[in-house]
Amino acid sequence: MRSSKDFFKPLAVGAPEPVREIPMGPSRMIHFFPPSNTKMVSKVPVIAPSVDILLGNLEDGVPATDKEAARAGLIEVGKTVDMGQTQLWTRVNSLDSPWALDDLTEIVLAIGDKIDVIMIPKVEGPEDIHYVDRLLAQLEAKAEVTRPILIHAILETARGMANVEAICGASPRMQGLSLGPADLAANRRMKTTRVGGGHPGYLVRDDPDADNADATRGTYQQDLWHYTIARMVDACVMHGILPFYGPFGDIRDTVACEDQFRNAYLLGCVGAWSLHPVQIDIAKKVFSPAPADVAQAQRVIEAMGDGTGAIMLDGKMEDDASVKQCRVVVELAKSLSARDPELAASYGF
Ligand code: GLV
Ligand code: MG
Repeated sequence: MRSSKDFFKPLAVGAPEPVREIPMGPSRMIHFFPPSNTKMVSKVPVIAPSVDILLGNLEDGVPATDKEAARAGLIEVGKTVDMGQTQLWTRVNSLDSPWALDDLTEIVLAIGDKIDVIMIPKVEGPEDIHYVDRLLAQLEAKAEVTRPILIHAILETARGMANVEAICGASPRMQGLSLGPADLAANRRMKTTRVGGGHPGYLVRDDPDADNADATRGTYQQDLWHYTIARMVDACVMHGILPFYGPFGDIRDTVACEDQFRNAYLLGCVGAWSLHPVQIDIAKKVFSPAPADVAQAQRVIEAMGDGTGAIMLDGKMEDDASVKQCRVVVELAKSLSARDPELAASYGF
């Protein structure tokens, strides 16, 4: 057992001190790009300023034959592109693959000072985080990286879901979690064939009409991911880290993508993955509070004075708990506005 007193000690001599608070900067979208594709790499300087987080993907989606080229492409981006305020992340291959060790080693040794967060896929339990935690400390020490690289885990197995609280609390490096609906569906043996989103067969139906057995009965599609996202949000909040919805694979269905992102936003997620430029704007819209909600939240905060007691506003009861919700919305709007003058203007800040 490790003493809680040692939790914030570096895991290797010369590695940087772990952070005590996870940075909560703008994180509305994690935009994926394939670093093995030279055309995509050449677009990075243009795309980077338009996203909160840019992620070089080395895992699924990159063919086995391109794994080394992808790693090299990411290192090239880290060495040559000025990311400004945009965070640079990578998704390495899973820990049971033949590439994970070289991914971690080569990236940290070459561009460890440029990478903010490493996304680890298919995390099954805290032991996976402990392995990466120690390895990163050794590599940071060797590369003389002065700022600790954080870890983001993808929840995409049933065992990972069952261990979600332990995963979140496994290291001070834990930055957040993403839901990986495609791998999770496969691992759970769900009978879907999609990357995220709902399914028309997952529904509830009106009772039959007692007077007309032939009457059409209304059906209502249900949210396949409600339990999973809600559970992930609780585990993240408990450990002071950030929850994200993952991929939405139907790029043309921008309406359903927006719905899926908004469900995640309303349940507490800070962002989602964007797999195509069209999803960047969807994420920006959904994960930035709506100006009308910010204005209403400011009204409630002002009307509530010192924030205690209860008042009636437009016929609705507001109290200590509703003012806290309003503060969450206004604080998010303020932090996003700090980097986005257009958004700030839309809120009247
Ligand atoms: C993402 O990696 C997923 O499996 O959905
Ligand atoms: Mg996956």
